[in-house]
Amino acid sequence: MIEETGPTEWVGRHEVGVGPWQGPWPDDDRYDPDLLEHGDRRNVVDPYRYWRREAIVADVDARRFPFHVAIENFQHDHNIGTVVRTANAFAAAAVHIVGKRRWNRRGAMVTDRYQHLHHHVGVGELAAFAAEHGLAIVAVDNTPGARPVETAELPRECVLLFGQEGPGLSPEAQEAADLVVSIAQFGTTRSINAGVAAGIVMHAWIRQHADLSKAW
Ligand SMILES: C[S@@+](CC[C@H](N)C(=O)[O-])C[C@H]1O[C@@H](n2cnc3c(N)ncnc32)[C@H](O)[C@@H]1O
Repeated sequence: MIEETGPTEWVGRHEVGVGPWQGPWPDDDRYDPDLLEHGDRRNVVDPYRYWRREAIVADVDARRFPFHVAIENFQHDHNIGTVVRTANAFAAAAVHIVGKRRWNRRGAMVTDRYQHLHHHVGVGELAAFAAEHGLAIVAVDNTPGARPVETAELPRECVLLFGQEGPGLSPEAQEAADLVVSIAQFGTTRSINAGVAAGIVMHAWIRQHADLSKAW
């Protein structure tokens, strides 16, 4: 069955994707018969055109990176969609929401359908997950004593943990961290948007650990 386009799927003036499959249908069960018949307008890279969602997730699962991303959500942070979308783009192992379970999916642009998402009621539960899976907790905030991410070595197996707009990282998150990193700023604002900070730090991990010859 064709997946319904969500409110944030790419629709409207600039239609993306491809129309109905031309020629004999491929004999491969990764392909979705409905997408082959009607076309594929989803927000996915071209190599996954016409693939079933489960087949796409399985393919990414085989090559996900060992960094996880976590964001605190005690006050319904509106940046989480952006964080999920960027984590998807960089093939993060999973995204962890810490605090409230509900989050605004608008900014995710439907990428959450291809991403593993976990919920933890508090930082303690996230820390237990990290310990169980051998992940260092790298907290991200511009707090005193933080190491500049521009020069810090990021552990390969880790959770990058972000705070929310307003309060920033909770004291529990700072306490649980094996390492705290900050992003250098030079202007007047106290901090940057948490979604932007997440993109910068995820990319710092990519620069240190990813095999760029495997990028799309
Ligand atoms: C808007 S900031 C909040 C608080 C900030 N500590 C303050 O002094 O106002 C929200 C989150 O974005 C991330 N962030 C924003 N600017 C950052 C920076 N320069 N370095 C590291 N993280 C940053 C952190 O994860 C932070 O918890």
